[in-house]
Amino acid sequence: MSGAPPLPPPVAGAPDRAPQVRAMFDRIAPRYDLANRVLSLGLDRWWRRQALAALKECARGDVLDLCAGTLDFTAALVAGGARSVHAVDFSQEMLDAGRAKLPPGAEVTITAADARALPLLDQSVDGVVCGFGLRNVPELHRAVAECARVLRPGGRLVVLDFFQPDGAVGRLLQGTYNRLVVPTVGGLVTGFRDAYAYLTDSIDAFATRAEFEEMLTRFGFVARGRDMFPPVASLVVGIRQEATIVQVQAPEDEP
Ligand SMILES: C[S@@+](CC[C@H](N)C(=O)[O-])C[C@H]1O[C@@H](n2cnc3c(N)ncnc32)[C@H](O)[C@@H]1O
Repeated sequence: MSGAPPLPPPVAGAPDRAPQVRAMFDRIAPRYDLANRVLSLGLDRWWRRQALAALKECARGDVLDLCAGTLDFTAALVAGGARSVHAVDFSQEMLDAGRAKLPPGAEVTITAADARALPLLDQSVDGVVCGFGLRNVPELHRAVAECARVLRPGGRLVVLDFFQPDGAVGRLLQGTYNRLVVPTVGGLVTGFRDAYAYLTDSIDAFATRAEFEEMLTRFGFVARGRDMFPPVASLVVGIRQEATIVQVQAPEDEP
């Protein structure tokens, strides 16, 4: 048993929050899937299917599941016939919690690593899918630059996440659900109310969908996005253009 006290929950948007984020996901890992299903009323499965469909033919090539968590996307990619799947997440407990979802002998490489320094070669994958992960990553531009680096030209980055709503209806819908339901239900299911209060705050501190699309264009993608039903989660697809010089300088307005 380690004598170190547990790290406090992360502060949404804080530039140095990565160790607290990792510790938080390590703690909630055993009950993460159940909390997801309950909180989204099962809708997350439907959203995930649409995210995978947005990878198009790239889903049958070499694919990175970024911030892979408990490997839902990884397992679906394997089942869908991907040539190889790399699952990367910095929470070892989340990755371990998902291992049982994979069939024996699946072509999957599972690595505990940070999204800002991917353990993959330049232009080595056809697709990157990231579900509900980027909101948690400080220095978002570095993770986006890494996606641009590892994708082959023409490859697709598909991001499913809860972006900061920019319209009045979205704000009302998401605000009500996030403030009233998420911390209470997430806390009851996992025993970690603080973690779910952070998840809510992290949406407020994240980019809007339009801001994120704009960031993708700066890193060599042609980007377009759409809201899911109900309009709380959104999907953004970026197509990696040929030979782009990727600049990893922090944008001044990064959320
Ligand atoms: C909300 S979970 C999503 C998991 C999974 N993609 C899904 O769709 O259920 C976010 C995941 O992002 C991971 N994560 C957060 N920040 C990260 C970082 N900087 N590098 C790698 N993984 C990170 C967490 O460990 C966690 O497993």
